[in-house]
Amino acid sequence: MTQDELKALVGQAALQYVVPGEIVGVGTGSTVNKFIEALAGMKDRVRGAVSSSEASTARLRAIGVPVFDANEVGELAVYIDGADEIDGVGHMIKGGGAALTREKIVAAQSRSFVCIADESKLVPVLGTFPVPVEVVPMAAGRIARQFAAMGARATLRVKDGAPLVTDNGQRILDVAGLKIDQPLAFESEVNQWPGVVTVGVFAHQKASVCLLGTPSGVRTIK
Ligand code: 5RP
Repeated sequence: MTQDELKALVGQAALQYVVPGEIVGVGTGSTVNKFIEALAGMKDRVRGAVSSSEASTARLRAIGVPVFDANEVGELAVYIDGADEIDGVGHMIKGGGAALTREKIVAAQSRSFVCIADESKLVPVLGTFPVPVEVVPMAAGRIARQFAAMGARATLRVKDGAPLVTDNGQRILDVAGLKIDQPLAFESEVNQWPGVVTVGVFAHQKASVCLLGTPSGVRTIK
């Protein structure tokens, strides 16, 4: 099976976690796009969605799912999103699609987080994928030096030849060379550096369940 087919498999499998009549939290990325395609088949049975990005909002509206502002609704039953890396207990690196801040906000508003990913995303220790960190532009240089002092390399993400601007008007640093064996402590520490908007380690908002696409079917990790 191709990686695309594995993503479609878990996108479809995630439908079983969508609660009929409720508002579902929807993440961002190519795996979530498969979930949104599958959601089209049950769009009349959901009240709507809270979305983590402008890109997912456009896709949800295109299939006829109403998108609510997070402030208009209370707690959500479930949030469905992908990951760049996930370990065996649900800690993740996210933000490859630059949507990490809104992803963490919607995850925090949800009772459970269903992660959907192809099996290549499962790792023993987080850190091979460079950690995305959303930062306020004027702090980017200093934050990059703080990572350098930890032995890591932070690179400003560029798109179409210019620094990428997030949906929140901020920048992304991609931080390579980290081995994150204590995700909770790492997330807490980096989050309190001045100018950091969100660090793309999801340990406090970890996955409740992960649906991993494998050639032999969907493997569920709880
Ligand atoms: C976007 C994310 C995505 O969930 C993550 O990058 C995985 O994306 P994909 O499903 O395309 O592999 O965190 O900010």
